[in-house]
Amino acid sequence: MTFSRRPTDPDEAPEAGGPLRPAVPGQAFRDAIARVPSAVHIITTAGPAGRRGFTATAFASVSDDPATILVCLNLKSSQNEAFRRNAVFAVNMLPPAAQPVADVFAGRGGVVGEARFEHGVWSSLVTGSPILDGAPMALDCDLVDSVEMGTHAVMFGRVVAVSGIGPGAREDEGVLIYRDRHYDKTRAP
Ligand SMILES: Cc1cc2nc3c(=O)[nH]c(=O)nc-3n(C[C@H](O)[C@H](O)[C@H](O)COP(=O)(O)O)c2cc1C
Repeated sequence: MTFSRRPTDPDEAPEAGGPLRPAVPGQAFRDAIARVPSAVHIITTAGPAGRRGFTATAFASVSDDPATILVCLNLKSSQNEAFRRNAVFAVNMLPPAAQPVADVFAGRGGVVGEARFEHGVWSSLVTGSPILDGAPMALDCDLVDSVEMGTHAVMFGRVVAVSGIGPGAREDEGVLIYRDRHYDKTRAP
């Protein structure tokens, strides 16, 4: 079965459940989503448009063949252009100790652009996208597609390298998470 965008005209596909209902107000949606405990990541890119990065919880696994993930970036962010031009990005999961770095990449404190990378120690894997030293898990990706949905760009990445797994992986110190609009952490084993 293939599924594409649901038509808004019921005559077009009456079996599809009729016309779309109006979405709940944004505030109600944000309040509901705030209840979800989410791992905090720093999404980075590097290339002709320079190094850029932002803090994100909107990350998900999509497919394992080919290995594909998605990240949602607010269309209001000035970083959209850099991610599109560089066409590569990395997802860095964070240890609890990286909370101050997460704040910097969330724009708290007013640090913008390349200067954000003065916080934390950064290296790279295959694409050149910055990888945070101490990240419990990192995914290095080629940008496959970017689809606008409402307020956000959904960026799909093909995973071309991973770190933080297998022998030699760091001792698990737990993971930085966000819930009810504040940071928390998973328990270390
Ligand atoms: C815990 C946390 C999670 C966030 N998750 C996202 C996200 O998934 N997508 C997004 O676009 N912005 C997210 N943000 C906001 C961006 O980090 C922030 O708006 C951005 O870095 C600042 O904008 P700028 O980078 O364009 O200056 C999150 C912020 C925090 C503190």
